Amino acid sequence: MAAAKFSINTTSSFFLVLCLSVILVFTLSCFSSDPDPLQDFCVADLKSTTIVNGFPCKPVSQVTSNDFSYSGLMNETTIVNPFGAGVSSGDVTNFPGLNTLGISTSRVDLVPGGFIPLHVHPRASELIFINKGEVLFGFISTTNVLYSKVLKVGEQFIFPRGLVHFAANVGPGKAVLISAYNSQLPGIALLPLNLFASNPTIPNEILAKNFQVDANVIAIIKSKFGNLIN
Ligand SMILES: *[C@@H]1O[C@H](CO)[C@@H](O)[C@H](O)[C@H]1NC(C)=O
Repeated sequence: MAAAKFSINTTSSFFLVLCLSVILVFTLSCFSSDPDPLQDFCVADLKSTTIVNGFPCKPVSQVTSNDFSYSGLMNETTIVNPFGAGVSSGDVTNFPGLNTLGISTSRVDLVPGGFIPLHVHPRASELIFINKGEVLFGFISTTNVLYSKVLKVGEQFIFPRGLVHFAANVGPGKAVLISAYNSQLPGIALLPLNLFASNPTIPNEILAKNFQVDANVIAIIKSKFGNLIN
């Protein structure tokens, strides 16, 4: 009798959990990218001072085909940083036709040995296509599992939204990556700069406690970023 009662309770709890999971997945999928557009297009009026969630639309009478094309990823960017990485961004701030469409792009050039520091995109998942070279990709889940792989030309990798990730050129030559994001403005927080080159700076004692080292170790690390402070 007791056993039968137990099994009924287990079955109904199972369905309750299933229903809640389905609701959760639907709810999450509603927030998985930028909001849906309410018109065919809304070419960003980047000069507008009106603050909205995105940019206001340029009057349709002023929209031309040029608003829907972008040449900013054609050429390699000049690489001037210690990471050996050049990034050209094709987000809404330089490709206004993307406004409200929940999509954007970027190009990364890596010298041999170059890398993109650990970072997150708060508003987008990132789908990478390897256009040239041989690149090590990795992201770390919230349960601290590293998912990592070396990929070659023509292959792709996905970085799930908001997770810490990196890319490193492990081939003998230059590498070129093209990325797509499900946000018009994915945003980027580079962790080394966030942590050690913020303005104002995070107190050394706080960082020392976080990394379980002496405050002078933190001071040494911060000094490496002296010329990169925003
Ligand atoms: C790319 O480089 C070519 C050759 O130097 C140049 O003619 C072209 O204007 C450049 N394109 C862009 C978008 O900078």
